[in-house]
Amino acid sequence: MSLSIALTKGRLEKATVEMLKACGYGTEKLDNKGRALVFPDTKKDIRYFLVKANDCITYVEHGVADVGVVGKDTLMEGGKDYYEMLDLNIGRCRFIVAGLAGHNPLNKTGHIRIGSKYPNVALEYFHSKGKDIEVIKIDGSVELAPVLGLVDGIVDIMETGATLKENGLVVYDTAAELSARVIVNKASFKMKQDEIMALISDLEGMVKYAEEN
Ligand code: PRP
Repeated sequence: MSLSIALTKGRLEKATVEMLKACGYGTEKLDNKGRALVFPDTKKDIRYFLVKANDCITYVEHGVADVGVVGKDTLMEGGKDYYEMLDLNIGRCRFIVAGLAGHNPLNKTGHIRIGSKYPNVALEYFHSKGKDIEVIKIDGSVELAPVLGLVDGIVDIMETGATLKENGLVVYDTAAELSARVIVNKASFKMKQDEIMALISDLEGMVKYAEEN
């Protein structure tokens, strides 16, 4: 049976496609993609879609995609109706708590305002520390919010740390380690178990190989 795979476009895209290629999948059409959004594998009975991270979960939950590759950050914030099968160990980054130097939001007493693209993650993290917060949803360049005084701190993704550093922000805690994960639709897992397990096994082999080399 054919497989449909939703790939997250943007930061994870290149590493994911490279990994599939290294496993022997025919991903050539994803290399010169133009404005196309659906790409047949040139070697196997697979089609790939390129979607935004949140939509990757939506497509997998609805079974339009049997499999998805998406960041753990999006999984922590979003839906839960899928199987999380494999850590691909690519796109590694962290959820951090940051603020202006000398202003650790974790030490603030009274009303705490936190800016984040990930309000559920921010709330859950601060609740785990016994702190009630107000979250202000920010859609991009979250680092700007504390600099302008909108919030006391942020919960955001840090990869190299350059954005924080260049804006005078300090990391006060790591909330979670993040990387790309393979998720699978629950019904697809029953109906297409052989195809899905073959894919997982190929990717798992590549994760192990990358760790050893
Ligand atoms: C992410 C994140 C930080 C930045 C961190 O934003 O929200 O702003 O990357 O990367 P660094 O630690 O390597 O500097 P992204 O670039 O995805 O864009 P956005 O702010 O528009 O969401």
